[in-house]
Amino acid sequence: MPPPITRRELLAGGAAFAVVSADPVAAKTAPASSEAAPAAVPVDLKVNGKTHRLRLDARITVLDALREHLHMTGSKKGCDQGQCGACTILIGGRRVLSCLTLAVTVQRKEIQTIEGLAVSGELHPMQQAFIDQDGFQCGYCTPGQIMSAIACVREGHAQTDADIREYMSGNLCRCAAYPKIVAAIKQARAKMVGA
Ligand code: FES
Ligand code: FES
Repeated sequence: MPPPITRRELLAGGAAFAVVSADPVAAKTAPASSEAAPAAVPVDLKVNGKTHRLRLDARITVLDALREHLHMTGSKKGCDQGQCGACTILIGGRRVLSCLTLAVTVQRKEIQTIEGLAVSGELHPMQQAFIDQDGFQCGYCTPGQIMSAIACVREGHAQTDADIREYMSGNLCRCAAYPKIVAAIKQARAKMVGA
């Protein structure tokens, strides 16, 4: 019969177990569960004129592909549920919520993000207008606002203040910079279409 465990030995064993359990590295290297990792598929994404060949989980969104795989973090993740507009990018010239769009579905389409707006160091008129009009506070919503605003002007939906408010209503700003965002869009509109 094995010798009885002393109280001291029992406490020492419990402490060692607690350390191993709390160690995130140890947790990560623990044997995987029976759930198999999903297979990666080849995905070609054309972002700001450049084609990137990636291997991605087929369930990954364009937003995560941009941020996690291409390290283009300009497009923001606000809600990840299609409710805030922070992730707005242009695909084929149309505004799209990148958090709700699977990367595999937009292969070889023209994807435009905030990183691709400035040309040779010169800001897009919409970027400049947001700076001139102070159209942001914390700036978290701003990339999505700017991408959406460019499409809004191109769509012809920026004729009046009411139009702008209506067609920009999918882009929320928790800092409530709305009046200045409207002013910025009007300034940029004049430059973009000579209106
Ligand atoms: Fe996509 Fe909020 S992060 S809509
Ligand atoms: Fe802060 Fe819009 S500037 S959320």
